[in-house]
Amino acid sequence: RGGNVSRRTFVTGLFAAVGAVPAAVPGVAAGAAAGKPGRGVVLRARPATVSLGGRTVSTWAYNDLLPGPLIEAVAGGTVRARLVNDLPEPTTVHWHGIRIDPRMDGAPGYTQPPTKPGGTFDYVFTVPDPGTYFYHSHVGMQNDRALYGPLIVTDPREPLGYDQEFTVVLDDWLDGVDGTPDDALRKLNASTEHDDSLRSHVLGGVTGEMRYPYYLVNGRTADAPATFVSRPGRRVRFRVINAAADTAFRVALGGHRMTVTHTDGFPCAPVTVDTFLIGMGERYDFVTTLFPGAFPLMALAEGKAGRAFAVVRTSRRAAAPSPDAEVPQLNRRMLAYQDLDARRSDYLRPPSRTVTVTLGMRPSGNEWTLNDRLASDPYRLRVERGETIRIVLHNQSPMWHPMHLHGHTFQVRVNDRRGPRKDTVNLKPHERLNIDVHADNPGEWMFHCHNLYHQEQGMMGVLGYG
Ligand code: C2O
Ligand code: CU
Repeated sequence: RGGNVSRRTFVTGLFAAVGAVPAAVPGVAAGAAAGKPGRGVVLRARPATVSLGGRTVSTWAYNDLLPGPLIEAVAGGTVRARLVNDLPEPTTVHWHGIRIDPRMDGAPGYTQPPTKPGGTFDYVFTVPDPGTYFYHSHVGMQNDRALYGPLIVTDPREPLGYDQEFTVVLDDWLDGVDGTPDDALRKLNASTEHDDSLRSHVLGGVTGEMRYPYYLVNGRTADAPATFVSRPGRRVRFRVINAAADTAFRVALGGHRMTVTHTDGFPCAPVTVDTFLIGMGERYDFVTTLFPGAFPLMALAEGKAGRAFAVVRTSRRAAAPSPDAEVPQLNRRMLAYQDLDARRSDYLRPPSRTVTVTLGMRPSGNEWTLNDRLASDPYRLRVERGETIRIVLHNQSPMWHPMHLHGHTFQVRVNDRRGPRKDTVNLKPHERLNIDVHADNPGEWMFHCHNLYHQEQGMMGVLGYG
């Protein structure tokens, strides 16, 4: 039962259910500890000691869990979550991907002051769209600790089409092993552009700066991997969330192909693939029919040496796959945005105008800009309420950037007509990509690179309208 987020264990109704994301602990079913209706969820942020499986580290976590508790809600319903800040620093919670009331967006300095140590903040918001989301701290480098967790919004009217579902949260981990994420940022800021001891190369450019000692699935290293238990012949939905600060993952399930059904929560025309790349902040849902045996769920840290690893098991007796197993699917063609298309009913209407946003790097290599501006004096894009605007994202840097817009789901236009709905989109070095945004949620919205280091090194703008 470990690893099993059963579709049928969560509480329906207006209040969110909460439970631990299952790792490899037999007998612990997610959603088991349901939030009490009428009271919602408490997220207590505090220093904690957590096990990565085999190894224990000191970190900052929600409710002492890594990842934080699984929050489930029904589309159209209300999430009530009380943040209790027992950290030595101010903090907030951001609900990544939700078309949310801006006062609940957890964007410090934009929509709310951060909650001080010893303070509390009640997040109460409706979740209009079903899908796979997550929540995380939006203060400094806190998101590179354990301050994140999955948020699943279900649609009671959605035809199931599958028998079981699992939530798979990917992460890169250094906290408590190689100092703290703040130490890592300091080290990076002191480094020079081509200091390859810190940086790693990917997609013809450089992703992340940091090499991480561990890569995790649901808080577990490959030494004591998360195990998802099912039965042969079951049609299973996997909800994959990349909560890493600095690592994109190339994902494949040994012995299986994957039919991708959702991009960042929104349904897409199903496309069957061997492998896909998931950038920081992105989510992909896929379904597959499981064969008998035990299979590696492999997430290679793209351009780095490591891998996150879990086991999908449908037979008790099958030998456990090795974390070093060869998964040939990983070397096959990767899913590309061009392969993806939104559901017709989710198409946005054609834009009324176009603006260009350039993604740039300052010569130091440690400052990142949007239209030549840093977050300290950010690029501000003003739009009219109700309009649809096309943003041409032009990456003029040699690194790639997963760009995320708060409060909206845009349509990536791979040609003028089609493309997936998303809230986070990866730009390869020197790539140009169009996203159409319908301004239907007035507020001041952060628009930033979801590489946490780039974000902290300036790569943040604002989309605003009243
Ligand atoms: Cu998950 Cu401002 O981001
Ligand atoms: Cu970036």
